[in-house]
Amino acid sequence: MLPKAARDYYRSGADDEMTLKRNRNAYQRLLIRPFCLRDVSQINTKTSFKLGETAFEIPFPVGIAPTAFHRMANDEGEKATVRGACKEKTIMICSSLSTTALEDVAKASSGEAVLWFQLYIYKDRKVTQDLIARAVKSGFKAIVLTVDTPIFGRRRADERNAFQLPYMKFANFMEYAKDLTVTPGVTTGSSGLWEYANNLFDASINWKDLEWLVKVSPLPIIVKGVMRADDTFKAIQFGASGVIVSNHGGRQLDYAAGTIEVLPEVVRAADGRIPVFVDGGVRSGTTFSRRSRSALKRSSWAARCSGDSPSRAAKESATSSTSSNPSLSIP
Ligand SMILES: Cc1cc2nc3c(=O)[nH]c(=O)nc-3n(C[C@H](O)[C@H](O)[C@H](O)COP(=O)(O)O)c2cc1C
Repeated sequence: MLPKAARDYYRSGADDEMTLKRNRNAYQRLLIRPFCLRDVSQINTKTSFKLGETAFEIPFPVGIAPTAFHRMANDEGEKATVRGACKEKTIMICSSLSTTALEDVAKASSGEAVLWFQLYIYKDRKVTQDLIARAVKSGFKAIVLTVDTPIFGRRRADERNAFQLPYMKFANFMEYAKDLTVTPGVTTGSSGLWEYANNLFDASINWKDLEWLVKVSPLPIIVKGVMRADDTFKAIQFGASGVIVSNHGGRQLDYAAGTIEVLPEVVRAADGRIPVFVDGGVRSGTTFSRRSRSALKRSSWAARCSGDSPSRAAKESATSSTSSNPSLSIP
């Protein structure tokens, strides 16, 4: 059993958790109108796309979204996640707030997973540049800039539990001052993670920072947290190579729309110029088959359930219906 504070951290959303629920409920309103008599004896779930000039191909269009602190769920933590991603030859986005250093995640990979690194921009820009340089050196293939977290969401469960990480560290920041490696000590009524993020993340980030990042990063930049057509235009204008439609799983701005509700406008705005990914509320292959060509699914629960193959649960739920649902419905 996970300790309550860890379980609540993984499962909870911001404020009233309306968006957390909306991400899932919005799918229930989408129904499939199946085609028939289409020869589905051969089904291919492979998908390919480009980020700038770099081409990617994965065997099925589901990857692993970035989530912090995998070692709270499983001793092997992010190493287990990357092994799972390798087995399925898919994408793992390693969080800035991982409990395994990004170099060790890369070392634990057999090379078969596609590794992307998720970035929060800290007030100290040197930290950001160092992280990018380390990601490049370790073989990561893209930077995922999370833009929905300039200010950390209020998660009431974390505040009730005085959530902090007393027994593990932010493994990517070991060479920096102590305030970057541990959550501040807090008492009931506040969250150590909330304090950490709001002390250190740069709340002033704006489109100029994306432009800066695109200049300093040799890797393509994907912007995670885009929910509108006008922001999609801007992301392209300022140099993004891809966008992820995401509301952080309802953990940031409560009462934001469900991601599937805004996906069509973002896809229309992107108009094929950059790939569009989406996350939020994906819990099974049937959810997945009703959305775009690519989805990102979180892995922490799966890590807990599946030991060293955390992406297996993600894949099993996705591919069982990825292969059966298209067989029953694709044009
Ligand atoms: C426990 C947990 C930790 C997360 N940590 C991060 C993170 O470190 N960086 C990030 O960009 N997104 C983070 N996210 C958001 C996910 O990447 C993703 O956007 C979200 O989980 C998708 O919604 P879903 O939980 O309904 O699948 C986290 C989500 C969860 C549930």
